[in-house]
Amino acid sequence: MDLKHDFSLRTVESHLSSVESDLAATATHMPSSYLRLLALLVIFVALALPAAIDDTDGADLYEKACAACHGTDGRGRDTSAVGFEIPLPDFTDCAFASREPDADWFAVVHEGGPIRAFDRMMPAFGDALEADHVEAILSHVRSFCTNHAWPPGEFNLPRPVFTEKAFPEDEAVVTMAYDTTSDTTELELLYEKRIGPRGMVEVAVPLHYSKSLPSGGRDSFGLGNVKLGYKHTMYHHLDEGSIVAAGFEFVLPTDEGIEDIDDETIFESYVAYGRLLPSDAFIQVQALAEVGLQGVRDDEVGLRFAAGKTWTRDTFGRAWSPMLEILATRQLGSNADTRLDIIPQVQVSLNKRQHVLLNLGLRFPDDGARDPQLVFYVLWDWFDGGLFDGWGR
Ligand code: HEC
Repeated sequence: MDLKHDFSLRTVESHLSSVESDLAATATHMPSSYLRLLALLVIFVALALPAAIDDTDGADLYEKACAACHGTDGRGRDTSAVGFEIPLPDFTDCAFASREPDADWFAVVHEGGPIRAFDRMMPAFGDALEADHVEAILSHVRSFCTNHAWPPGEFNLPRPVFTEKAFPEDEAVVTMAYDTTSDTTELELLYEKRIGPRGMVEVAVPLHYSKSLPSGGRDSFGLGNVKLGYKHTMYHHLDEGSIVAAGFEFVLPTDEGIEDIDDETIFESYVAYGRLLPSDAFIQVQALAEVGLQGVRDDEVGLRFAAGKTWTRDTFGRAWSPMLEILATRQLGSNADTRLDIIPQVQVSLNKRQHVLLNLGLRFPDDGARDPQLVFYVLWDWFDGGLFDGWGR
């Protein structure tokens, strides 16, 4: 047993008593029974610590520093047992635990709940525990979820505007594309919901708006082609850094007011691949094929690619992810033609919880026939909290 560790456990102890006095000082409006319970709890944790001086493994450290609130079994102790009202998370619930990447949990343990706009009842351990102790504790916390079918949150990479992710999401996304020369705006409302550990269903409703041209005509507004889809993560391996999904989509001919679009149902199938690279860099690839079910339109194949890297401000702060996305589309049949689009873009987290994100990009087509577009989306990962939760002070 080294002295450093001895020291660090003592600091946990004194840290917890300072949490206690800190809470007592600010809790003048709380009922006194609440305070007594809280004080008892913190003292309980503090008393348990010296016995653990010889400990280096995560399970023991967890028992000393976390179990008083989170429970030895990781399910979270009852609000009546801990003496405060904030419900504790259940770490054995893979549907919740698997989607949180280690980096986010590290931030919460190091800096305390408020760093991700959680309650301050989740104390900060950054001064008391060294990084490798926190990591050891977190790997113990990870062991509470025993179903490895759930892909880990590390694979929930920044979302490119067009390339489908391999991770199944619980998200609502509003995307806007604005044609710089023709003054048309397309809006897409997308809703995605996970089904079990690896499945996801999605529905997308596009709307379009064109301003009348100076030469005449009227403003037009209408529904575009509604899409319904399903995606399934086939494979994921965190050490290797790869995730693979397959999916399909039906594009229904629901559009109104766009004359140059042929009316038929399109079936699209795809494979999506995500790869984690060192230093928070990543690539994402989607290969797809589109077939018109009534044979009106030429079939199409496409390859979409996005590469990027995430920078986090001051270690735990706002996440910036610049990406470069490339779309290659090839029509098959009589009008064989290949199109290329390049979309430089930046995704940024808007709030502390980091579950509301914005992406802003420019889409440059390689031909003169199409206009450059300004594209942006706002994404809300609704499983992580309400749209207005998690903004903090
Ligand atoms: C004094 C009680 C207390 C102690 C001790 C405590 N926690 Fe917490 N923790 C909480 C509460 C309460 C929450 C929920 C906060 C919320 O939902 O706003 C929480 C939330 C968390 C979360 C966030 C989960 C999420 O929703 O993403 C993690 C991770 C966590 N705790 C880990 C730990 C670890 C690891 C330790 C020990 C080093 C620890 N906690 C010690 C009370 C505590």
